[in-house]
Amino acid sequence: MNSGNFKNMSIRYLLFTKPRASNIQKRHFSEEFFWWKHLENAPPDSILGIKKIYNMDKNPNKVDLIVGAYRDANGKPVILPSVLEAEKMIEKKYTDKEYAPISGLPQFNQLSAQLLLGPDSSVLCNQLNATSQTVSGSGALYVSGKFMAQFFPGNTCIYLPQPTWANHEAIFKFVGLEVAWYRYCDPKVSKLDFEGLMDDINKIPEKSIAFFQGCAHNPTGVDPSQEQWCEISQLVKKRQLFPVFDVAYQGFASGDFYNDAFSFRTFLQDGHKVAILQSYSKSMGLYGEYQISKLLHEIYVVR
Ligand SMILES: Cc1ncc(COP(=O)(O)O)c(C=O)c1O
Repeated sequence: MNSGNFKNMSIRYLLFTKPRASNIQKRHFSEEFFWWKHLENAPPDSILGIKKIYNMDKNPNKVDLIVGAYRDANGKPVILPSVLEAEKMIEKKYTDKEYAPISGLPQFNQLSAQLLLGPDSSVLCNQLNATSQTVSGSGALYVSGKFMAQFFPGNTCIYLPQPTWANHEAIFKFVGLEVAWYRYCDPKVSKLDFEGLMDDINKIPEKSIAFFQGCAHNPTGVDPSQEQWCEISQLVKKRQLFPVFDVAYQGFASGDFYNDAFSFRTFLQDGHKVAILQSYSKSMGLYGEYQISKLLHEIYVVR
């Protein structure tokens, strides 16, 4: 097969397009073969819909704040110098395309865990962690959700802040978890509804799963204060809940990776067993690396 044919064929299979009529006859495809022909389009993604409206807007002063990605003064994408440097190092170091171990590159996992918890963390020093690489933060949500749906011994209902990133609900339902809510933000005043949050968490059935965004909450930008995190941690302990932290914006809230780790580090200090789902899409400007498992993200579970 020459390379031209090969290219056409792989594109056809990738895009699930219908082969031309002549090919259908040649290969004796029956009508039933196109089992996807009755499928309806999924509803349009609301965020990408805003992007469409943005593109149509003629205002010269418009600013794109839709996706959490770095931009320069002219609105152009920015690649962090550290990322460029890392790419050069990777290019030199990895000369083959062999399989990584099933849970990812050990060194990547170890350094990711250190970035989250600090190199002196007693969890890491005592090797109490299990860390896996996944395809981005969405992959971490999916894998951890599937893991909990299958193996969590308590109530497989995950309690999410109201509101939260729309895909949290979608992914967790998709993997078979039940989803419920606790109050988080009062939309009228864009302020944390701390009383509502504590009240609702206090009513969550024991041994359920409580989900938090570790910092820079999406979509509100509203986080509990350090004192409030300490109180939440105590309540979660009292209710014997399993805390799961989604950390998609470490560094975005305070400008400092260490400060933005306060929530989950506090929970660990308080003796919780936790799951932390880490993404570098935003914090390191790596959205475009979705397809490359080498540079990716992790799910992190403490035993
Ligand atoms: C709060 C939150 N968690 C997880 C994700 C998913 O991360 P990723 O883009 O790395 O899949 C996002 C993406 O926008 C997010 O906002």
